[in-house]
This record gives sequence, structure tokens and C-alpha cells, in this order.
Amino acid sequence: MANMLNEHRLVRALLRKPVDRTPIWIMRQAGRYLPEYRVIRSKVKDFLKLCKTPELACQITLQPLERFPLDAAIIFSDILTIPDAFGLELAFLEGEGPYFQRPICTLEDVEKLPTIDPEIELRYVMDAIRMTKRALKDRVPLIGFAGSPWTIATYMVEGKISKNFTKIKKLMVSEPMILHRLLTHLSTTIVSYLKAQVMAGAEVLMIFDTWGGVLSCADYLDFSLSYMQEIVANLNFELERENAAFAVPSSGGGQVIKKVPIILFTKNVGQNLEALSETGCDAVGIDWTLPLDKARSLVGHKVALQGNLDPAVLYADPDFIQRSVQLVLRQFGKGSGHVFNLGHGIYPDVEPEKVAIMIEAVQSFSTRYTYE
Ligand code: CP3
Repeated sequence: MANMLNEHRLVRALLRKPVDRTPIWIMRQAGRYLPEYRVIRSKVKDFLKLCKTPELACQITLQPLERFPLDAAIIFSDILTIPDAFGLELAFLEGEGPYFQRPICTLEDVEKLPTIDPEIELRYVMDAIRMTKRALKDRVPLIGFAGSPWTIATYMVEGKISKNFTKIKKLMVSEPMILHRLLTHLSTTIVSYLKAQVMAGAEVLMIFDTWGGVLSCADYLDFSLSYMQEIVANLNFELERENAAFAVPSSGGGQVIKKVPIILFTKNVGQNLEALSETGCDAVGIDWTLPLDKARSLVGHKVALQGNLDPAVLYADPDFIQRSVQLVLRQFGKGSGHVFNLGHGIYPDVEPEKVAIMIEAVQSFSTRYTYE
């Protein structure tokens, strides 16, 4: 796959070009359901330390690929690296998830947030990407990612995982301009972070908007979608400008960056799917609450779709898993533009053997759907 013109199956599907079969990768494919991950994790108790050690992040990124014939690697990292780099003192508490010592409360807190150079403060992510890219030898493409501004902001304001998002919603209804300033700062940071990931070797980008679905339609458009739209536009502009610079003969003929597809994923997107598909992104992730035939009729030919098997299906027996995979493939139907995935991250107590069954089912049943 070293040929410059040879596009990977995942990239082709994201750009809605013909493929031989439906590509598959799994959200959270490197993680606790893998015994080999738990071995490393038992030695390094601090999850953030794993992210900040490029050799380990690279090794963990490759673990699922050594076990399964997946169509992509996703760099092992977290969406909270940005607020950690802002100095909010991120910690992961055993059994409780992320926690910030210094959450954002006031306008002053927002104004004090530093401007980040991703090659300095987040250099460990870029080093992990460069290392992984070398190790992959172009076998599969590498996915880089960030959280959406809204989703990162929920953690920065709530300080931890939240049930009702009362702190950030209080800010949203009482001091919307403070929240907009925070979201604007996050957007600018995310553009430079994702651009740096592409320069380091990421070939596909995904933005996780895990909590956009807790907003009303109008608030979703204002506080989540509009910022993702701006990120997509600015990134595409920046990456095209990089390519134009490389195309100038006197610049020494550096490496041209191929089109980098951008996937946007809002969990529980509901009524807002059409709007999400009109942001200029290449693909949207769909969770299992919306069947792909309905999703496809809403987005038409604008974007590719990624998803959407219920992660709980992996608790079932092989026969149930195979039938559920076939249903997802059938619901998408014929033609290009489908990337198989779970509707959200894989659960930590799933048996890896079940994952193998799902992947095999996608590979064997999907060929009949990949032509019109
Ligand atoms: O998909 C992958 O394999 C790449 C790695 C990845 C992680 N986090 C590793 C991780 C990605 C893409 C993320 C994104 C992320 N992080 C999101 C968006 C995810 C989505 O699906 O919508 C969110 C909300 C976070 C924040 C976060 N990180 C939480 C809430 C937690 C704790 C949850 C838990 O299950 O304990 C984390 C920790 C985390 N990030 C783990 C992994 C593998 C578990 C760490 C461990 O205990 O070993």
C-alpha cells in the first residue's frame, strides 16, 4: 500500500468511493477488553502516563491490529489532553473517570487559558503518532482525533463526569458569552492540534462530540455544531494551504498531504443529523438508536456513514452477533460510503473472541453490499 495513489479501504469508503468490502474499526479498540492492554495497565497505574509515553501509546495502539484484521489504527490518547495541557491538572481516579483539580468557573478562568503549541505542550501525542506511523508501514491508515469543543468544555466546567451537566448548562443560560469564549478558544486549539496530528502522520481525523446530544436542538446548533463546522472549514483551509505550499517547486517538493477525511460523531444526534451532515465533514458517526437506512435517507449523498452496531450485541452468542452484523449491513444497503463500527466505544468486559466474530462477519457478508 506504499503507492501514493493507492488509497486505503477506510479512506475510500469515507470519501464514498467504491470498495471491495466494508471497512471496519472499533471505537476504543485499544483498551481494557484486551488482556494484553490490562497487562500494561497493571504495571502503569496512571492512565495519563500511558498517553504521555509515546513508546507505550504506540505499543497499545498496535495491540488490536496484532489480534484482528482491522482496517484502521486509532492513536491511543484521550480527548482530555487539551485541558490537561491548559494546566487544569487532569487526574483519572480509579473507578470514577477523569477529574480536574481546577475546573473552569469564571470569565477570568477562561481568559487565563494559555495558547498551546501542539508540538510543544502536546508533543507526546505527535511523537506517538510519528512512531506508530513508522511501525504501521502503511498497512492501515492511522486515525487522529480530538473531542468537540462542547464535549471538552463539559469536563472543564463540570470538573468530572456529570449526569445532568448542571454547571455548564447554568453557564450556558446565565453567562452564554463566557461559554462562547471558552468554546472559541477550544476550537482554535483543536484546529492546530488536529493539523499537527496530520503533519505527524494521521490520515483520517475524527471529532468526538460525546455530549452534544444532551442539548436542545437550538442549543446544539449554537454551542456544539457551529464550532465543529468552523473547525472543519478551518482545517480544510489549512491543509489545502499546506498542499499548495508543497506544490511550489522551489519549496523543495515536500510530501503532499492527501485528502484527509474528517468524521464527526455526535452521540444521540437525533433531529440534528441533517445539520451535522451539512457541516462540510466527509462522514458522520451514528449510534445504534438510529437505523442506518433512516440515517441514509436523511443525509442522502452528502456524507459517508460510520456505525452502528449496539456495543451490547458483543455480549451475545456468535449466531446473534452474525445476524446483527448482517442487519446493520442490510440497513445501510448497497453502494459505497459505509464504515462499519460500533455505535459507541466497546465495553471493557467484552470477550475478544466476540470481536473476532463480528469482524469476520463484516468481512464475509459485506462484499454483496459494496456495489450499487
Ligand atoms: O478509540 C480508541 O481506541 C482510542 C483511544 C481513546 C480513549 N479515549 C482511550 C481511553 C479515545 C478515542 C478516547 C476518547 C474519549 N475520552 C472520549 C470520547 C469517546 C466517545 O466514545 O465518545 C471521552 C468522553 C473521553 C474521556 C474519558 N477518558 C473518560 C470519560 C474516561 C473514563 C471512562 C472509563 O471507562 O473509565 C477515559 C479513560 C480512557 N480513555 C480509557 C481509555 C482506554 C480507560 C483507561 C483505563 O482505565 O485503562
